[in-house]
Amino acid sequence: MIVAIDGPAASGKGTLARRLAEHYRLPHLDTGLLYRAAARTLIDEGRRLDDVAAAVKAARGLALIDFDEVALRGREMGEAASVVAALPEVRAALVETQQRFAKRPGGAVLDGRDIGTVICPDATVKIFVTASPETRAQRRALELRSRGEPSNYAKVLGDILHRDRRDSSRSTAPLKPATDALILDTTDLDVEATFREALRLVETQLDAKDATQLRSAVP
Ligand code: DC
Repeated sequence: MIVAIDGPAASGKGTLARRLAEHYRLPHLDTGLLYRAAARTLIDEGRRLDDVAAAVKAARGLALIDFDEVALRGREMGEAASVVAALPEVRAALVETQQRFAKRPGGAVLDGRDIGTVICPDATVKIFVTASPETRAQRRALELRSRGEPSNYAKVLGDILHRDRRDSSRSTAPLKPATDALILDTTDLDVEATFREALRLVETQLDAKDATQLRSAVP
């Protein structure tokens, strides 16, 4: 089973994807880390974020293990990743790695922006996680504070709106729900309620697929 989780920044998709992966005992790939790691390499090498050749080289050189999450998780890296992720050449360089991960025996859970639309168009279940920008900004501000980073709410909200605009308006693989994605609005849901609702969506989808297969097997 392949579970595709997409959604905007701080929607809760990462936490949800981890929980679903644990529940179904599937490997999980947070694809945002790939773009964050590519951006980190460019910054460490003192290059511009729009240096396409260097960005593609950085993307191709990534291994899916041992991401230094502490170095990649901060606000600055999220913003830099969003810039690098808008380069079509970088996205193309990362497609195969993500698809190979998804096709592991038994399946996988992947979260990102284009999993249901581009990386795994045939995913078993697609969930598009969303929440109001204000709720997402509150969550992100709390998360930053817990890591000891500056967390001015108005600034965090501004960053989120700016990132939403860039991620949704780029020409290649923009952030948008797949036509067959199930929408999960977490504005009024905590982590536990989000997980329960997502489980219900996955199970309903699996039942529906089983029923379709049974129907098509009847002569
Ligand atoms: O999910 P995140 O905040 O770690 O992602 C950081 C940035 O990377 C995000 O603003 C857009 C980009 N991204 C993307 O374009 N496609 C993905 N599948 C995952 C992330």
